[in-house]
Amino acid sequence: MSENIKNFRRPDYLTVVPDVNSLNRAALNEITVAAEAAIAEHGRFTIALSGGKTPRGVYSLLAEKRETFPWPKTFFFFGDERSVPPDHPDSNYRMAKEALFSKAPVPEQNVFRVPAELGAEKAADNYETTLKEFFKAQPGQWPRFDLILLGIGDEGHTASLFPDSAALAETSRLVAPNWIEKLKTNRITFTFPMINNAAETMFLVAGPGKAEIVKSVFLAQDEIYPVQRVRPARGRLLWIVDQAAASLL
Ligand code: 6PG
Repeated sequence: MSENIKNFRRPDYLTVVPDVNSLNRAALNEITVAAEAAIAEHGRFTIALSGGKTPRGVYSLLAEKRETFPWPKTFFFFGDERSVPPDHPDSNYRMAKEALFSKAPVPEQNVFRVPAELGAEKAADNYETTLKEFFKAQPGQWPRFDLILLGIGDEGHTASLFPDSAALAETSRLVAPNWIEKLKTNRITFTFPMINNAAETMFLVAGPGKAEIVKSVFLAQDEIYPVQRVRPARGRLLWIVDQAAASLL
């Protein structure tokens, strides 16, 4: 790992693991520890799942803890969603349902999907109301997740906070619609204040395709990439990166 890495605003910890199987195991361990701590502290575990391909293996591994994970006290949300119905191949909810919710005894009422079929604007408003009601957030108060999972795109986006997109500047909404010019599509995404109010955020990054962006993000002298704005004010920031994605550090 190069000397320059110290320029990056050091996360609470960066773990480089040999391969994606190790990443899945390390992530599962972190989720399990976070769940046990949250339930011990306040009786429930709230987690926001990330989408894309990387976390699927973690969700499948989590589902194997059928008998031992505290499902009744775990509440699943989504940090972002595509503007597609829940059964669409691109749906983050569909991916999590296939990998986890359909394989483990997750109470249906414990899963809060983004109603993306309403269209991005209405879905964002609807989901924001759901969050405020679930967390019983008072006016001006931000819901605080026990854990938010995140990935990183090859241009430095996270959740659906893409470079040069409007939602990057959102400071009052918990959830926002976001037009992604690069993809010519609308998304629904947690905003930075929402993400940064979490007790813990965990990036999961795997594969050689991420090596360039991981190097750029960790060695950047300035704040160029949206992912660099994830910095929980009162929480832990963890990166679990496999050797292939960390190969240029
Ligand atoms: C999404 C995700 C997104 C993802 C990154 C990385 O809806 O796509 O929330 O932020 O984490 O794009 O995706 P991969 O894991 O597929 O590389």
